[in-house]
Amino acid sequence: MAAVALSATTPSHAGEVEVLHWWTSGGEARAAQALRDMITAQGDTWKDYAVAGGGGDNALTALKTRVVSGQPPTAAQIKGPQIQEWGAEGVLANIDAIATDGNWNAVLPPAIASIMKYQGHYVAAPINVHRVNWLWVNPAMLAQAGATVPTTMASFFEAADKLKAAGMLPLAHGGDPMQDATLFESVALGVGGVDFYRKAFIELDAATLSGPTMVAVFDAMQRIKGYIDKGSPGRDWNLGTVMVMNGKAAMQFMGDWAKGEFTAAGKVAGTDYLCVPAPGTAGAFTYNIDSLAMFTQSSPQARSSQAHLATAVMSPEFQTVFNLNKGSIPARIDVPLDRFDACAQQSSADLRAASSAQTLIPSFSHKMAMSPAVEGGIVDVVSRFMHSSLSPKAAAAQLAAAVKAS
Ligand code: GAL
Repeated sequence: MAAVALSATTPSHAGEVEVLHWWTSGGEARAAQALRDMITAQGDTWKDYAVAGGGGDNALTALKTRVVSGQPPTAAQIKGPQIQEWGAEGVLANIDAIATDGNWNAVLPPAIASIMKYQGHYVAAPINVHRVNWLWVNPAMLAQAGATVPTTMASFFEAADKLKAAGMLPLAHGGDPMQDATLFESVALGVGGVDFYRKAFIELDAATLSGPTMVAVFDAMQRIKGYIDKGSPGRDWNLGTVMVMNGKAAMQFMGDWAKGEFTAAGKVAGTDYLCVPAPGTAGAFTYNIDSLAMFTQSSPQARSSQAHLATAVMSPEFQTVFNLNKGSIPARIDVPLDRFDACAQQSSADLRAASSAQTLIPSFSHKMAMSPAVEGGIVDVVSRFMHSSLSPKAAAAQLAAAVKAS
């Protein structure tokens, strides 16, 4: 009901809504446009504060500067444990009244609802559920090389070797910390499994971080380096997706924001490209939940515009349009998925299955599992490994040391 009222009439207290985020790639910008359209349709002014850089480190640095200088935006793309950190700073707004109005507790999985709360009060609105442990595949290239779509790490190496032997680039990858960590996270899950992932990246167990399985993970990463081209360093993730789209590379490890790029280019899931669980990770689901955290506003008008924003974000209409473009699935559990493609249907089914099988795990490389300090320490070691001759054994030891030091 609220959503309808929002689009039909121009409220007398129309104000400005400023959102800080890092959705700047083709597919991301199309999705963000849906929010802009909804906000302006209800008479508020949309002020876009987009900061480029996949994964959001640049945006979050810009946010700190804004908040410290006393000019917080209306809302910002803040996720997972970071919501607690900003909550503890006392700068987030209690939006319980909006959540009660919108019956959020009834339409959100409890795990997602709790991530959006600080000290039991809603301070953020969830937008989606991204899956991170995907492999995107160009089926025509695999067929040409006589390779099959990989399901295990062993069959991934087999396919990659065949592609290489056929003179094709097996893997699209951009050498930046976000992409190195996203790749590493899926390889760690593929090599070690869910329990290993939990012990290493949630419990931060020192023996696991430096142990033989972690060395095996870095061994696999070492081998994967051989499937990546020399032009990789500094390449944005979405350009990697375009390489798979255009037959310049056969596969890419990336979360399903990559699907937003395929969709924006009119590519069809299951025909032009395939989405398969990252090798060895079928049955597990690494989640990444985008959310907008609401900053305390000084004027009644700004608070009212913020209420419009939070209500719009959680409306079934927005959760549908945004996620159709973004490549993720709605956070709300009551939004029909009949307009969503096969990859989204699979993501939703796998999410439910993983939730009941206890194999639903937070993505650490996308800020869902640990504090920024610990994540930063791990990502530094992984990126150093990808861009140096550091040995797998030494990398595992450095990983444990970095976590201990952070
Ligand atoms: C993630 C974010 C996604 C997507 C991705 C690439 O951290 O949650 O929405 O934008 O970065 O930039």
